[in-house]
Amino acid sequence: MQSLIEKITALKKQRNAIILSHTYQPGEIQDVADYVGDSYGLSVKAAEEKRADCIVFCGVRFMAETAAILSPQKEVILPIPDAGCPMADMITAEELVDFKKEHPDYLVMCYVNSTAEIKALSDICCTSSNAVKIAEQIPKEQGIIFVPDQYLGSWIQEKTGHTMALWEGFCPTHLHISPEMIANAKKEHPEAVVLIHPEAPKECRDLADGVMSTGGMCSYVKESSENAFVIATEIGIVHTLQRQNPEKKFYPIDSSVVCPNMKKGSLQSVCDALEGTGGEVITVPEAIAEKAIHSLQKMLEMSK
Ligand code: 13P
Ligand code: SF4
Repeated sequence: MQSLIEKITALKKQRNAIILSHTYQPGEIQDVADYVGDSYGLSVKAAEEKRADCIVFCGVRFMAETAAILSPQKEVILPIPDAGCPMADMITAEELVDFKKEHPDYLVMCYVNSTAEIKALSDICCTSSNAVKIAEQIPKEQGIIFVPDQYLGSWIQEKTGHTMALWEGFCPTHLHISPEMIANAKKEHPEAVVLIHPEAPKECRDLADGVMSTGGMCSYVKESSENAFVIATEIGIVHTLQRQNPEKKFYPIDSSVVCPNMKKGSLQSVCDALEGTGGEVITVPEAIAEKAIHSLQKMLEMSK
């Protein structure tokens, strides 16, 4: 194991590369990453990174695509080419064009968990950490089309009171969280604060103490005077939280809340990506990238 880490370190230097990892990635990948964060933090990192020539993006395809759009001068490598996000693939460009025709006066807001084509057809992008903040800056009388996650969409609607047309996409991993799981976790750990991701259904969100993105969970836990937390999102973040807060206790809502795509990689795949023997260099066709960048830049501006 040590020699693989040493090899990764040497290759990183040789290629002037940085490793970015989402909080849902396997612990061994998070531990070698230069930066571990949520979708928003990773987008900012990709946009602001000035020194590296290459980004090894340990996450799923839409994240690497976002980095390639925001940082076109860098080589962005996705170590596992078939690590996709089923939710992002639940709407096609043609379907969004038709949905827009049904609501011609609505503004289009897309979750970052979407393809570059969808971002190119949207007015503004968001992540779960800035979705409410962005929607709050949109005039109340302005209708919003939200794609592709109906659950994050309904949460924004609940928080802001906007009239919204929601695409019926969902995250299979978060949809797997049930009210029974939350009730059981509360019974087993009555002292713990229950934090849930807005991709989870409303009946589960309503039972939690706090609804927040993965980045929101990291900041909340750090600042909280509480010592125990039930974490109702993908299990990988428990590693991140435990590493950042060794003195606190974290209980995953259920060991079955796993995103299979986020778990396809390993230290070996990171090493192969750096060596050029594995992974895929992610490129976005220029015609799509030059449109998609507007919705992403708008997100970055409105999140400040
Ligand atoms: P965040 O990183 O924005 O919390 O999103 C979670 C997620 O499901 C990423 O795919
Ligand atoms: Fe997509 Fe859900 Fe996996 Fe995130 S956790 S990558 S939304 S399937």
